Parts: sequence; structure tokens; C-alpha cells
Amino acid sequence: MPTDVVTMDKIVSLSKRRGFVFPSSEIYGGLGSSYDYGHYGVLLKNNVKNQWWKAMLQERDDVVALDSAIIQHPRTWEASGHLAGFTDPLVDCRTCKLRFRADKLEDSQCGRKPSKHPGETPECDLTEARDFNLMFETTVGPVKEEGSTVYLRPETAQGIFLNFKNYLQFSRKRPPFGIAQIGKSFRNEITTGNFIFRTREFEQMEMEFFVPPPEAQQWHQHWLSERMNWWTTLGVRPDHLRLRPHDADELSHYSSATSDVEYLFPIGWSELEGIANRGDFDLTQHAKASGQKLEYVDTATGDRYIPHVIEPAAGVDRAMLAFLVDAYDEDQIEGEQRTVLRLHPVLAPVKVAVLPLVRKDGQPELATEVYRELRDHIQAEYDEGGAIGRRYRRQDEIGTPWAVTIDHQSLQDRTVTLRDRDSLAQVRVAIGELVDVIRGRLGEPWRSPKLSA
Ligand code: GAP
Repeated sequence: MPTDVVTMDKIVSLSKRRGFVFPSSEIYGGLGSSYDYGHYGVLLKNNVKNQWWKAMLQERDDVVALDSAIIQHPRTWEASGHLAGFTDPLVDCRTCKLRFRADKLEDSQCGRKPSKHPGETPECDLTEARDFNLMFETTVGPVKEEGSTVYLRPETAQGIFLNFKNYLQFSRKRPPFGIAQIGKSFRNEITTGNFIFRTREFEQMEMEFFVPPPEAQQWHQHWLSERMNWWTTLGVRPDHLRLRPHDADELSHYSSATSDVEYLFPIGWSELEGIANRGDFDLTQHAKASGQKLEYVDTATGDRYIPHVIEPAAGVDRAMLAFLVDAYDEDQIEGEQRTVLRLHPVLAPVKVAVLPLVRKDGQPELATEVYRELRDHIQAEYDEGGAIGRRYRRQDEIGTPWAVTIDHQSLQDRTVTLRDRDSLAQVRVAIGELVDVIRGRLGEPWRSPKLSA
């Protein structure tokens, strides 16, 4: 396998330079582990989410959508076990005043000697570990009083369980069926870093699939394979993707079996998505705590049961990082180094750039006409400033799969050149056929050119 040229520093630098991701609150010195998504970051993230919705909703009949509140009734988190159990063990160093996760000391740097881990120098003075709850607390109403404490949700999943009964009534679904949602979650993570890999505010794409208990294992296998296919169909190189079953001591309090989809990031193999068998833990807990019956009743047979739940749970930000890392490449064109994002075309923020070869002779006018026609159908961008080579480089860096160039000949025969980001092949296409040609290419199966490099 050829060596991958990508590093986390290169991704961070390209993300800022090209307007994908900026450190948040930068003019005030930044806020640790908080990021803002720029224009191309928003487009890329939206494409990731749209592909997830497509796979969950459009291509299936057994999943429905939800967008639940971020702030839920506080008893939600008592019942779900998050208030008591969603904790990390924490130690403080009395010498350098920094705080570390007790179970991740080997991944942390000593505050005074960054080449050492906390506890490794004679001066390190670590406290005993104590549990630290990761939920952000806030208050509803103008006065902080008894009963006014609420939490920002640490996972989107609980909003789904709270709505299970509504969905049985309105959606006319019966198990096996799923409820999917995408939204922000919040965790007061102690160990952050690695760019957008682990942040305190992030987006999740979660689906709770409710099944008759005897079918749980079979559906777990189904979702493991569906989700692995989703990542590879979107171009992630299979040799950089793996499924890792959790050991018994790693399982969350609600799970009887979980496998992580892991990606080989520059920081090593790390979790992209967890696919858990949550059993009947959540519905049972919420039924007990609320006094409501959260069960399915088969009207034909009179059978009643609490469904078991299979949950594929992925992070949008982490997905975006994996797609960026997987796509990042460098090559040489006519003796010049080029940086290129070889993103799957359906994920690319911009699908086609429209570029007049020169800024005169009627070319900008015709290019603007072509651009206006294209943008009604696909995300397009017009650029007439600077040398054509530099404009191609800019589009390559944001991963635009195709560039349309309007030249002298275009004014005579209404054809343009269509340049491919990866092969660099250029073909002449009639302006009237451009939309169909590009749409056709967008619909074709795609394989990362980095695989055959
Ligand atoms: N409902 C199950 C659940 O939340 P999780 O493994 O804690 O499971 C699911 O989270 C996914 O959410 C992770 O695989 C990861 O992609 C993303 N995620 C979790 N914590 C994150 C954080 N602090 N920053 C960015 N993404 C995170």
C-alpha cells in the first residue's frame, strides 16, 4: 500500500484555508475544542446528512423521521441512567493544575513536561480519581430553584424513546421499524483535541430500530452490514475501515452487544459509529419512570411485548473528518504540486465549477449563462478571477469533481470542455447536454482513485 500523505495538520490547515472549518471565537483567542463550519463545511456536512437520510428513509419503508427537543424533561436522564452513570473518572494535578481522564493518562501530556504523561515526573501530584458527569447543566426559567435544572442532551437517542408511543399511534408501523433523527448533542468532554474528532458540541445521526425480542440478534447483524456498506459506497477505502466488537468491560450501561465502525485516522484506528443492541433497557426504564406502557400490542393476536432496540449511532462531524482524511491527496501536474480532495462526487460541496478561460471576448457572458443554467440543477460555482491553472487548483482543493471551461471555440459552436478532477481527462460537451452529462456522472458508482494509486 502506498504511504498516505495525509496528516491531521494538513487537514486542519486546508479546512481553514479553504473555508471548511474555523476554530470558534477566534478573535477572542478561541474556545477549546469548539469549531465553526464555513461555507464548504456546511455544504459537505449537509451532503453527509442527506446521504444518511437517503439511506435511512428514502431507500427503506421501515424507518420514519423525528426531530426532538434538545432540552428534555430532566427525569429523562434519571431514567436513562445518564445522571448516575454518564461519567468519566477524573484526576487533577495539584502541581500543574490541569485535569485529566484517569483512564486516558497515557494519551495525555504532563502540563510541565509535554514529553511525559501525567504522573510520570517526580513533581506530578495527582489527586484520587473521582467521577465527573459529562452532561451540561442549565436552568429553565428566570430563577435557579428546586426543579429548574435541566440538561443539554448528551445523545439524540432518548428523544426517540420518549416518542415511541406517539409513533406507534400515528405512523401505523409495527416492529420491526425504526425512528431516525439527526441533531446536536453536548458532552462536557475532559479529553478533547484532534480537531473535530471529539468536541463538546457535535451532531449525531442516530436511528433506534424496534424489533421483536427474538429477532434482535439477526437485526443487529443486518445493521452492521448496512452501515459498513454505507461508508464504503460513499467512497471510504475498505482497507481503512473495520468493525470492532466491544469487549464486555467496554459496553455502555444499556448495551448487551456493540460493535464500532472504526476508521484509520492519522491518530490511529478510532470510532466513527457505534452499532449497539440496547435490548429493552430504555423502554423499560422510561415505562417505569413515567408510569406509561411503552409496549407493542398485536391487535390480531393480543400479544404484547417491549421491543428490543438496535441502534446505529454515528457522528456527523467525525464522519466529515473521515471523508476529508480519506479524500486528501497530493500529486504533481506539469511539475507543480497539487493538493486535491478526492471526495465522492455526491459528497463534494460543489459539483461543478464554471470558468471562462479569459475575462474578455464574450467568454464571461457565455460562462455566466452556462452557470445560471447549471445552478438550477446542481451546486455550481462561477469563478473568473486569476489564471485558469490557479482556478483549477482552488476547485481541486475543495474537491469539485468537474470543471466546465468556456473558451474561444465555445462562442462558435456552443461546446465547452468538461475536466475531471481525478483523471484530469477533458472532453468536449455541448452546452445543451451538460446538465444530463453531469447528472449521469453523479449517478455512477464511484471508487476512490487513491485505491488504485
Ligand atoms: N446513542 C448512543 C451514543 O451516543 P456514542 O458512541 O457515545 O453512542 C455515537 O456516540 C457517535 O457520536 C460516536 O460514534 C461518534 O461518531 C459521535 N460522538 C460521540 N461523542 C462525540 C464527541 N465528543 N465529539 C464528536 N463526535 C462524537
